[in-house]
Amino acid sequence: MYKLAQYQESTAFVCNRLGGFKPDVLLILGSGLGFLAEELENPIRIPYSEIPHMRVSTAPGHAGCFVAGVFEGKNVLAMQGRLHLYEGYSPEETAYPIRVANLIGVDKLLLTCACGGVNTGYQVGDLVLMSDYINFTHPGLLAGYAGNAFDLTGFEHRFFDMGQAFDMEYRKLSREVAAQIKIPLREGVYFYMTGPQYETPAEIRAIRILGGDLVGMSAVHETLMARRCGMRVAGFGLVTNMASGVLDQPLSEEEVLTEAKNAAPRFSALVRGVVRGM
Ligand code: HPA
Repeated sequence: MYKLAQYQESTAFVCNRLGGFKPDVLLILGSGLGFLAEELENPIRIPYSEIPHMRVSTAPGHAGCFVAGVFEGKNVLAMQGRLHLYEGYSPEETAYPIRVANLIGVDKLLLTCACGGVNTGYQVGDLVLMSDYINFTHPGLLAGYAGNAFDLTGFEHRFFDMGQAFDMEYRKLSREVAAQIKIPLREGVYFYMTGPQYETPAEIRAIRILGGDLVGMSAVHETLMARRCGMRVAGFGLVTNMASGVLDQPLSEEEVLTEAKNAAPRFSALVRGVVRGM
């Protein structure tokens, strides 16, 4: 478990690199979606590998870099690529950059990720607003955090309400933006799987019964850390493939990256509109 002092060291390093720039929105760009970070004005790039205590991205389509700059009039810190459990990291390691961003002063998170479509009403290329998430995997991000006799994590209170993982006002804003720019926006529940293998058809049938509309290998620990830090969160999934067993074809990483590329114009328009209103 990281100590508060380590978070503070990372924060001091990033603040120093940012000069006087003070971001207030964190934008996490998932598989194949990192191109948006190239659209920030006056970008300051900070590779994860240079930040003390932070892990590096090893997944395809994940550059592994913070990019800070102005985007739609907002001071944004973008994560060009994220960290996953399947890379060998703990939940806390994957959520580390979110808490660092919060310590810098960021209090809003917009996260994006490539997903499999579990809901058979979805199609490849659909953009889906996350209404909630399900995470039944272990270990939990916050297990051991707070309430210990020697709590060095900087969090008080062990038990913590998650009645609103994804912010109601951001959800309303997202629907309004989508309507304005005439982009169909679905809404659904994100179901987390550790990966890196794609799911079996039986797993997908179970996920559907349990209430999942999307399946993916990220997002939940980031959302939980953000909520723990008091940040407001919006989440978008891009359906890069129908989940295992829905169509009679194997799943591949190439398909995920190709579909992310195809969705780029719609995805970019939606994210821009939402960031502008956050
Ligand atoms: N399953 C899990 N994660 C994913 C998928 C999927 O089908 N597609 C993109 N990320």
